[in-house]
Amino acid sequence: MPETNHAATDLVPLAQLFTEARTYSAWQPKPVSDDLLHRLYEMVKLGPTSANCCPMRLVFVKSADAKERLKPCLAPGNVEKAMSAPVTVIVAMDMEFYEKVGMLFPPVDTRPWYAGKPEAIEAAATLNTSLQAAYLFVAARALGLDCGPMGGFDKAKVDAEFLKGTTWRSLLLCNLGYGDRAKLHPRLPRLSYDEVCRTV
Ligand SMILES: Cc1cc2nc3c(=O)[nH]c(=O)nc-3n(C[C@H](O)[C@H](O)[C@H](O)COP(=O)(O)O)c2cc1C
Repeated sequence: MPETNHAATDLVPLAQLFTEARTYSAWQPKPVSDDLLHRLYEMVKLGPTSANCCPMRLVFVKSADAKERLKPCLAPGNVEKAMSAPVTVIVAMDMEFYEKVGMLFPPVDTRPWYAGKPEAIEAAATLNTSLQAAYLFVAARALGLDCGPMGGFDKAKVDAEFLKGTTWRSLLLCNLGYGDRAKLHPRLPRLSYDEVCRTV
């Protein structure tokens, strides 16, 4: 059995994952290889989801042609950020994710939890795809990439342009690449431990 209990600092500095990691809007002109995107997914897929339902689906928008198709779907403030990023990933949720749970969760047949139950599908897809998106941000940082998540886009337009004829629905976008640190604004405040945490 391989050792799986490394401290995070054995592998990737915590600064790279958290303290120095930032949301980027400006990008260095440095490409992201398809091989790196494969390695990214191989890490992301291991993050936990409820009953291992794994509803997240990804579309890596990378070619100039695909970027042009994305452009009219974006809020004006996000256009330059996405157009200058080497990759913009559409983080989508498969609204028929339950068709794969037989393979994903052999111990129990969880399909009846969801099939024909739109509210249960929506809740599980949204919660677990959001979690998987967060794993994507952290995994990208672990691989040396930077992220720029974007909620400012027209979901109906993205779905019509990139997800037509599928059971996938867009949830958010995230630019991926190597950020330009010189263009960062100062870090915004965060809530303190005492404001947020209780120990009971
Ligand atoms: C779900 C989500 C949606 C976001 N949407 C946008 C967006 O549409 N445009 C944008 O410029 N930044 C967007 N952001 C970036 C946040 O404003 C940024 O991550 C936050 O201010 C923290 O910045 P920091 O990581 O540099 O500390 C989004 C972030 C998340 C997680």
